[in-house]
Order: sequence, then structure tokens, then C-alpha cells
Amino acid sequence: MCGIVGYIGSKNAGDVIIDGLSRLEYRGYDSAGIAVISEGKIDIRRSVGKLKQLVYQLSKNELKGATGIGHTRWATHGKPSEENAHPHTDCSGKIVVVHNGIIENYLELKKRLVSEGHKFKSETDTEVLAHLVEESYKGDIFKAVVAALSQVRGTYALGVICSDNPGEIIAARQDAPLIAGIGDNENFIASDIPALLPYTRKMIFLEEGDIIRLSASKIEVLNRKGEEQKRKIQNIAWDAVQAEKGGFKHFMLKEIFEQPQTIQDTFRGRMNPETGKIELGELNIPVEAVNNLSKINIVACGTSYHAGLVGKFLFENLAKIPVEVDIASEFRYREPIIDKNAITIIISQSGETADTLAALKLVKSGNCRTLAICNVMGSTASREADDTLYTRCGPEIGVASTKAFTGQLTALYLLAIDWASKRKAISKEKAEAVIKELWEIPGRLNEVLKASEDIHALAKEFSGKRDFLFLGRNVNYPIALEGALKLKEISYIHAEGYPAGEMKHGPIALIDENMPVMVIATESKVYEKILGNIEEAKARGGTVLAIASEGDTQIKAKTTRQIFVPRVDEIFSPILNVVPTQLFSYYVAVVLGCDVDQPRNLAKSVTVE
Ligand code: F6R
Repeated sequence: MCGIVGYIGSKNAGDVIIDGLSRLEYRGYDSAGIAVISEGKIDIRRSVGKLKQLVYQLSKNELKGATGIGHTRWATHGKPSEENAHPHTDCSGKIVVVHNGIIENYLELKKRLVSEGHKFKSETDTEVLAHLVEESYKGDIFKAVVAALSQVRGTYALGVICSDNPGEIIAARQDAPLIAGIGDNENFIASDIPALLPYTRKMIFLEEGDIIRLSASKIEVLNRKGEEQKRKIQNIAWDAVQAEKGGFKHFMLKEIFEQPQTIQDTFRGRMNPETGKIELGELNIPVEAVNNLSKINIVACGTSYHAGLVGKFLFENLAKIPVEVDIASEFRYREPIIDKNAITIIISQSGETADTLAALKLVKSGNCRTLAICNVMGSTASREADDTLYTRCGPEIGVASTKAFTGQLTALYLLAIDWASKRKAISKEKAEAVIKELWEIPGRLNEVLKASEDIHALAKEFSGKRDFLFLGRNVNYPIALEGALKLKEISYIHAEGYPAGEMKHGPIALIDENMPVMVIATESKVYEKILGNIEEAKARGGTVLAIASEGDTQIKAKTTRQIFVPRVDEIFSPILNVVPTQLFSYYVAVVLGCDVDQPRNLAKSVTVE
């Protein structure tokens, strides 16, 4: 997730673009850059770190020009550095590109372009676009962009300028957001509405496959054949704060709804449902090392620890590798036995959690191979671990983690399937089937999100309770823990997550009419057992809310309220089942008037012990 802005008109493009980018920093902030056409030449400035670094650079040496494009980056390919910051140029320096998205086939394209003499200056996937446009450029930049796009596979929102033609910006959209803003003898492009609000309220939301030609006086929306497309001009009434949250009331809700996209971003280009193959090109773990793994240790905190608990089921079930999962603050002080043939996976959204980093240091001192699953490129964890598999969720702003969790699960699915295939623990057919099902998960999640208003109603009904119990079994036990954590951290209601089978060993004593129980009861090999646990809770006067598989009539008869989710293979049920628990916690907190995005006593990243 990155932010792009483009301007063409009579103002100083640099000022408009920097202002627009400052309203898009929630989309990424590890580096930023800007290019304008100044007296027929391209002038580029780039800088690592937040946008203010770039602003400082510009204050010393101002940019002049009325056509330009800019970018604020959330790294996915290539670490945050000045060379990897956008915009990127072709060999001649005449063509400049900013891009949000992922070019899946960039390695093969880069190889070909390099063999034909193109000189690359960055590690990014984006730079191939600049060279592809250069290759097809014969004086018409629109045609060259179309030709370049016909060769790429992946997602993009793109802005391109060429110094030969200072009166034009070309932009294109495929599976990444892009809008055009209409001004008075000036026009704009941006990834999102807030960037443009101070300048115009008249906007065109581009559709997949659209490519636009922008001058100061005109916006043409075309398809790849150059045929004009009719798009509605919308009048935006949102204020700036509403716009930053995409119209959602809180970042947390926006991030919950982003999950179909962020899951897809995490697996895109890394698995292929047609060939049944996983390709994690960024990892440097030889097949022999995977084959010789004696054990996996997973170490993390909070929500990331819960993802690790799901990971245990995946690695054991699919790859048949024994797994131990630890809370980092416990692991670092318990003198763990560090096995050189094991691998330690640390999971961290921020990559800066103090206890997780201390655990990483400890295992490294024991010469154990390490792998980080991390959302923030360039974070300490990603620099310290031997390898890093990034979740590509974009910045998570709500303190309560949601999209980072499902991104972590996606990364764990990819790893577990990959290692299971390498170790021949699953057949080719099974790998293909599992990959196909993972590919379908974003669509299934969209179905789950449709229940949002029903879950809101449920939250209103139960928001007066002071205690809550979440029960799950097997691969959904971690989801019971995560559901309880979400409820307590944002609504301050006491909640506990339990393995349902443990109830009769003590906690069942708590159940009465004041202690509702949310049971994760989707179809699985322990389904009958869960039904038994539901009966036990009911017999003690408990009110049971179930998360159940679509069309389950038995559950309907046995429980007080139900939230239905699509049927999927049991191993994928956690990634769907967690979402109703996120929505439930969110709405309870809203009903209670809590500060959802910044709950009391909590920080987004716990960098002290
Ligand atoms: C809960 C939450 C925390 C984090 C934990 C680890 O919603 O966000 O429990 O999961 O502090 O943080 P990371 O993943 O950044 O290491």
C-alpha cells in the first residue's frame, strides 16, 4: 500500500503534490519522492523516512514546474532506501513512473530487459515499468504505457510523465485504487480522496483496466485500445477526517474491511492456483535445510502469538514438522533448548516489539536459523532475522491488530504449504487443492463482511455484559483467544478465551445467565465435541452465541444467536472465523463509546520490556 499523487495545471506542482502526499501518509511512510517537468527536463527528489525529510530537502532547493507526480512508499520489493524510493526512471531519464501495487512477473521482465542492455538502479518491481515504457516509446507516451502494461501481471495504480510532453500525465489502474480530480484548468490523480480535498470535490473513480490521459484542460478515460470510457463524475461531500478513514468511522473498521485485499496482496505473486506452486523467492532457505528441519519454534506477542498458535496446526498438519509456540516474554527468560536443526519463526506486525526482538537475539546466539514474518519492511526484526517473509498489509493504524493478523495467517499458510510440498508430506494434488482454496479466501471473506450489520445488532444486545467467554477447539482455539483479546482491549469487558474441552476442568463454574459464551463451532473434525460443549454451557444457564457454517440447522436449534460463515476446509476456518469476532468487539466498543483506535493504556508498538 503506497500513496500516489499527480498534478498538472498552472500552480507549482511540487507544492500541490507534497500537500497531497501529506494526506496519504497513512498509506505508507518509509520513503517519499517527487518528479516534476522543469523547463523540458525531469527534476527528481527522493528521500528515506517520513515525508518531512523530503520537505526538508525541498526547502533547501525548491522544485519548479507545473506537471509532476509524487509517491509515499510502503516497501514491498526492496528495502526502504533512496534508490528504492519512487519515482523511478528509464535509462534516458526522460520517462518517470510512480506505482502502487505489485508487479508479479517483474523478475523475468527485469532479466530480459537487463540482457537487452537496460540499466537498473533499484531493487523494486516498479522500475521494470519505466524500462518497459522506454522500450515501446516512439513519441507517443500513451501508446508506450499501453504496450508496457500488456506485458505485466499484477496490480497497479500508476502515474507516468515524460519530459518530451510536459502537458500530459498518463495514469492507469488495475486492482489498486486510483482517482482523478477535476479542477479549473488543472487536473489531478491520487490514490485516495483525502489528497485532493483541498483542491477539488469533483472526482472520477477509475475502474479496473482504465487508463487516463490527463492535461490541464481535459481528462480522457480510455481502455487499452484507446476507446473512450464513460465514467461518472462524483461530488465528494466528506470532510478530511472522514476521507482519511475511507468513509469508515474508525481506522479499525476500515482495516477489518480491507482484509480481502490485504490477504490477496500477501499471497499475490507468491502462489499460482494453475500450477499449484508456491514461490517465495525472497527466502534463502535451501531445500535441504527444509528437509532437515527437526522442529519449528514460533515466538511472538499478543495477536501475533495467536497467529503463531494457528501456525502450529498448519505446520504439523500439512508439513508434519513438530512445532513449539512461545510468548516472547516467557521464551526469553526460560533458558530454551536451542536446536541447530530447528528454525525459529518470529511473528511481528511492527518488527519492533522488544520481547520478540530479545527472543530473536537469543536464538541467533544459539546459531539457530531465523525467519521473521513481519509487516514493516526495514524494521529491526526484518534486518536481524536471516530471512523475512513480509505480510503486505500496508500500515495498520488501529491499535487493535486485525488485518495484520490475517496477513500473518496468510504468510503461515504459504510457508506451511511450501514446506509440506518440499518435504513431500503432501501430494501434488493436495497442494493444488489447498492453494486453490486459499486463492478463494478473499471472496469468502467478502461474504463474511456482509454480516456486519447483523453483528452490530448482536453487539448492541450484549454490550451490557461485564464478562464474556470465547470457546474454540483445535485450529480455532487460537481464534477464541484472539476474540477474547480483541474484546477486552477495545471495550474493556473482561473476556477469556478457552479450549472448549477444558471447561469442565474448572472454568465451567463461571457460567451463568450473566456470562455469555461465544463458541466457534464451524464444521470440523471436532464439531460433535463442540456441540457437547455447547450443551454443557446451556445446562448451566449460559447464553450461547455461535460462529457456525452456513446452512447448519443443528446449531440453530442449540444456540441463542448465530453468525454464519461460508464453508471452507477446516484448516482455513480461522482466517474466516476471526472476522466476526473482530466486528463484534468493534461494535461493542462503539456502543460503549470507547476510543476504538486508541484504547486506554495501549500502544501500537511495544518497544520497551
Ligand atoms: C493486539 C495487538 C498486540 C500486538 C502485540 C505484538 O491487538 O495489536 O497484542 O499483536 O503487541 O505486536 P507486533 O506484532 O508488532 O510484534
